Order: sequence, then C-alpha cells, then structure tokens
Amino acid sequence: MNVSSILSASEPLTESLPVVELRHVSIAFDGPPVLEDISFTVAPGETRILLGPAGVGKSVLLKLIIGLLRPDRGHVLLFGDDISEFSEEELFSLRARSGMVFQEGALFDSLTVRDNVAYQLIQNPAIPDEEIDRRVREALSFVGLEKTFSLYPASLSGGMRRRVAIARALINNPELILYDSPTGGLDPVTSATIMELVMKARDVHRTPSLLVTHRLQDAFTLCTHRFDPAGNTMAPLPQGETDPATTFLMLEEGRLIFDGSLHNLLHTDYKFVREFLE
Ligand SMILES: Nc1ncnc2c1ncn2[C@@H]1O[C@H](COP(=O)(O)OP(=O)(O)OP(=O)(O)O)[C@@H](O)[C@H]1O
Ligand SMILES: [Mg+2]
Repeated sequence: MNVSSILSASEPLTESLPVVELRHVSIAFDGPPVLEDISFTVAPGETRILLGPAGVGKSVLLKLIIGLLRPDRGHVLLFGDDISEFSEEELFSLRARSGMVFQEGALFDSLTVRDNVAYQLIQNPAIPDEEIDRRVREALSFVGLEKTFSLYPASLSGGMRRRVAIARALINNPELILYDSPTGGLDPVTSATIMELVMKARDVHRTPSLLVTHRLQDAFTLCTHRFDPAGNTMAPLPQGETDPATTFLMLEEGRLIFDGSLHNLLHTDYKFVREFLE
C-alpha cells in the first residue's frame, strides 16, 4: 500500500491536529513569572477543565490562547497556527473562530442583549440585520433566553447575564470555546444551569473547550453527566463512568502540575492536588 492510499483510507490528518497547543509557554509582568514552561493540548472533541487557586494565572492562560496576551517565551498554536508572531489583524480573524466567556461575563451595559450577543457579527458589515437577528434569536434560544432580546443587561440576574455571555460566545459556531469561571459568584442552582449549557455545547455541538472553574462540583458534574437532547437536560452517566473526553489541567505557582483524567486526579498523591480536592 502506498502512502496516499493509507492517507485516504484513514481520517484526514488535520482531524487529529490539536485545536490548541501550548509549547513551553512562559509569561511575566513586572515580577516573577506568572506562568512558566506550560505545555498542553486541547484536541478536537476534548473538554479540558483548568483548576488552580486565585491569582495563579488561569485567566492569563486563556488570554494567551486567543492572543490577547503574548508569551515571553514558548509558542501558542491555535487551530494549528503558531500565533506568537501574528499581527493584530491575523489574530482578529482567528479570534472570530473561537468563543470566549470572560470572567464575570463582561457584557456591555449600554448595549441591549441583542447587540451584546451580536457583537462579533456587527463587526462584519456584510451580514444583513435580519440575518443577525435570526442568529441572535437562535443563540438566545440555545441558552433559554429568547425573551431578553430587547432588554439591557442591568435588568437581568447574574445567572442570566452569564447565559447571555455564553450565547455571545456561541454566536459564530466557534471551533473552540473558552470559559473563564462561568459560575463564579453564582449560587449552586444557577451554577447547575450554567454547567448544563456547557455540557450542551460539549455534547450537542461537540465543540472543544477549555473551562476554568473554582468549583469542583461543576467539574465533577461535567465529567459524570451527559446532555440528553430528548429531555433537554443533563443526565447522569451510569455509576462509575466518566466522560473520557473531559480531562483536567491544574496550575500551582505558575507551573502545570497535573494533566490527566478525573480518575488520575482523584488518585494522585500530589499534596497540592489533594489539598485542593479536600
Ligand atoms: N495585564 C496584566 N498586567 C499585569 N499583571 C497581570 C495582568 N494580568 C494578570 N496579571 C497578574 O497575573 C497574575 C495571574 O492573574 P490571573 O488573572 O490569570 O489569575 P487567575 O488564576 O485567573 O485568578 P482568579 O482565580 O482570581 O480569577 C496575577 O498576579 C495578576 O495580578
Ligand atoms: Mg481569573
């Protein structure tokens, strides 16, 4: 068998390319390095949950991935391209292929929900208004907030604002979603609603993602449940089963100290991980 027939017989090579790859990434601001020698990947279909204490560099890491910050050393690959030396213009079009849910949601108070969700689309004058309206309604329907279309963020609850932020991140059918602490500051019931949406994006759209969370409960829920489209809700996996494509990363003092499955996380002897879990 020659090479070309091997290639055509298997999946296209690009299928297995990581969506995100960090290679020995370091970054400092005015003091000691915030992140040092960080390497990991997010493969197609994967959900990676990033854990770590406050101030360890989780948000910085997400910003490096979409080029809002640049590493001092190392390489960041997004959709197979090394973006470390990309111009702002080149980064802009790559960013349009990913969705970011910023910490605290970060909606624009002076814009309606419609305009907040449409934000990326409005940048493109070629998309007619009716098309924008249709896609905003579709994204709002995904998060169960069709009725908020004309409202301003000030009249929404904290949980609703997060759901709008998720709709905004999903508007372009992104090839990657980055969630920065989407349940931070929310009560357990509202947090569960948000995690259900994260799960829906994972299991219905199969969008690879990187999720930062402080809440271990959220992480465990994501590992042990699947979204059931028939019931439009999350359903537990059979006892003892976990989603094999949902795995963990953990930062401590600027270093990546864990990269692996829930099972390995629960059984690691690493003192810091044990303390965090307890
Ligand atoms: N643009 C910046 N300029 C200077 N320092 C920064 C900048 N962004 C982040 N830092 C510093 O980098 C460190 C990591 O910040 P980061 O926001 O990534 O923490 P985090 O892990 O997301 O924390 P939290 O869990 O509280 O959200 C902090 O010490 C922060 O002050
Ligand atoms: Mg943060």
